[in-house]
Amino acid sequence: MSSELVTRSKVFGQLRRELYGDQASHPSSAHLFIILGASGDLAKKKIYPTLWWLFRDGLLPEETYFVGFARSKLNIEDIKRACLPYMKVADEERECFSAFFSKNSYLSGRYDEGNSFSQLNAHLSSLPGGTGANRLFYLALPPTVYHHVSANMRAHCMSPKGWNRVIVEKPFGRDLQSSQELSAHLASLFAENQIYRIDHYLGKEMVQNLMVLRFGNRIFGPIWNRNSVASVVLTFKEPFGTQGRGGYFDDFGIIRDVMQNHLLQMLSLVAMEKPVSTSSDDVRNEKVKVLKCVEPVAMSDVVLGQYVGDPAGEGQAKLGYLDDPTVPKGSCTPTFATAVLYVRNERWDGVPFILRCGKALNERKAEVRLQFTDVPGDIFGERCMRNELVVRVQPDEAIYLKMMTKKPGVYFSPEETELDLTYRSRYKDVNLPDAYERLILDVFCGSQMHFVRSDELREAWRIFTPLLHHIEKERTRPVPYTYGSRGPNEADELLQTKGFRYEGTYKWVKSDRS
Ligand code: NDP
Ligand code: BG6
Repeated sequence: MSSELVTRSKVFGQLRRELYGDQASHPSSAHLFIILGASGDLAKKKIYPTLWWLFRDGLLPEETYFVGFARSKLNIEDIKRACLPYMKVADEERECFSAFFSKNSYLSGRYDEGNSFSQLNAHLSSLPGGTGANRLFYLALPPTVYHHVSANMRAHCMSPKGWNRVIVEKPFGRDLQSSQELSAHLASLFAENQIYRIDHYLGKEMVQNLMVLRFGNRIFGPIWNRNSVASVVLTFKEPFGTQGRGGYFDDFGIIRDVMQNHLLQMLSLVAMEKPVSTSSDDVRNEKVKVLKCVEPVAMSDVVLGQYVGDPAGEGQAKLGYLDDPTVPKGSCTPTFATAVLYVRNERWDGVPFILRCGKALNERKAEVRLQFTDVPGDIFGERCMRNELVVRVQPDEAIYLKMMTKKPGVYFSPEETELDLTYRSRYKDVNLPDAYERLILDVFCGSQMHFVRSDELREAWRIFTPLLHHIEKERTRPVPYTYGSRGPNEADELLQTKGFRYEGTYKWVKSDRS
């Protein structure tokens, strides 16, 4: 074995033990990673590049082979050409990159034809260690073909000796009923511990950090409840519109695209009780439990928006959602939504959890914000602003606590400031991995903590399905907002009526270290 391979295998072994302890044990050393839908957008932009980075960084088991499968009649050179622009290969990595592609192969076949999957299986078995290898199947496919593909995979492509794991991408259905149908179908083929439902927000550094922040510190526990928290705001903002992807987006809308999954996952990590341990099932049990305490969202607690063009947009005119030729005329699909959820349990009763998400807004940002209640018995003439704890997921990961301090110098008046943990300055030499890198590695290691369990998914759809059905049936008109703005004013008004207070006085002074 070359020294490079020995190192790679050692790193993987160490990392597995460090991260996953006993869960990491899987006897077979050969692994086959099968990408179903290898010719598609997700495969070329995300999956192949992620596999390459993991391979390059020595994080995969040494005997890993990658097999692409799709309808298109392509070869591995075509796949390589299509993925290359997204793979960021440095000059000195060329050799390693060739080694990566030498472990790749591609097969074309039909998704609805058992024979194609028998051929795929014959190919898998012919690879080194093939019949004994562990197999990871990534379904990078539109949900319309999930049924056929999963059934054919199960019937023809299971590893006879190693384990088999299936990675599924959202959308997991369109509403409670369709999602339940999909779950039942998958459950008829695979055990829950073989199914890895990806919500890539669960792979983000600061989302994973929520549990450590909450349960690894004494200071937050006692104030993390309705006695001290006035509201929790979970935000996702993007500064661009659907950009020709409107046809796909229009079928789903922002609630299904972002709120029902990414934001709700963050909510459950903020609101859940402390799990018994950090095992996947203990954590997911608590997430399900807290979701069960959330009532379906009421229409009166929602503001929907749709962006309109800005002819004077910065640099160039920005087109509105309905100007996108791939969007159906007169579409009522929301590209922005604010919704207020309540967790009816002893810890959170009465505290609004405000979920806000939108496209074509003023900035890129995802964050969790806890706004605390006023200090009782004020002695500073109402000059103290509320404390806020902000966990900024992206961009520029940070945790900051907005607080009052004595204005420095001869004064004795309170002033707004912050305790600031900016990752870029505190962890200068740390390269944070991409969410997909962590998640794919988790699948290799058999850790399901950062994947969505079927009962979690059911609860998520239960919370949003009545709202989704209502707005689709009534064709509720979203409020227009200008491309590049903060969204509709009505959303800020809703926040205000729910008790979130915005003073507009806080100014962040970037320190030299940042
Ligand atoms: P702000 O007071 O500017 O904003 C607080 C909250 O109020 C945000 O959720 C914001 O929403 C909302 N808001 C803004 N305008 C209105 C409005 N007109 N009506 C109602 N709500 C409104 O404080 P921030 O905590 O956002 O901090 C200000 C800046 O300083 C940010 O850019 C932040 O990233 C930066 N900062 C960076 C730190 C770091 O990097 N370590 C540390 C501390 C601060 P919306 O999101 O829609 O604007
Ligand atoms: C996806 C949504 O799940 O998340 C996209 O379908 C969105 O619409 C994307 O753009 C955002 O992901 P990230 O990691 O760039 O915040």
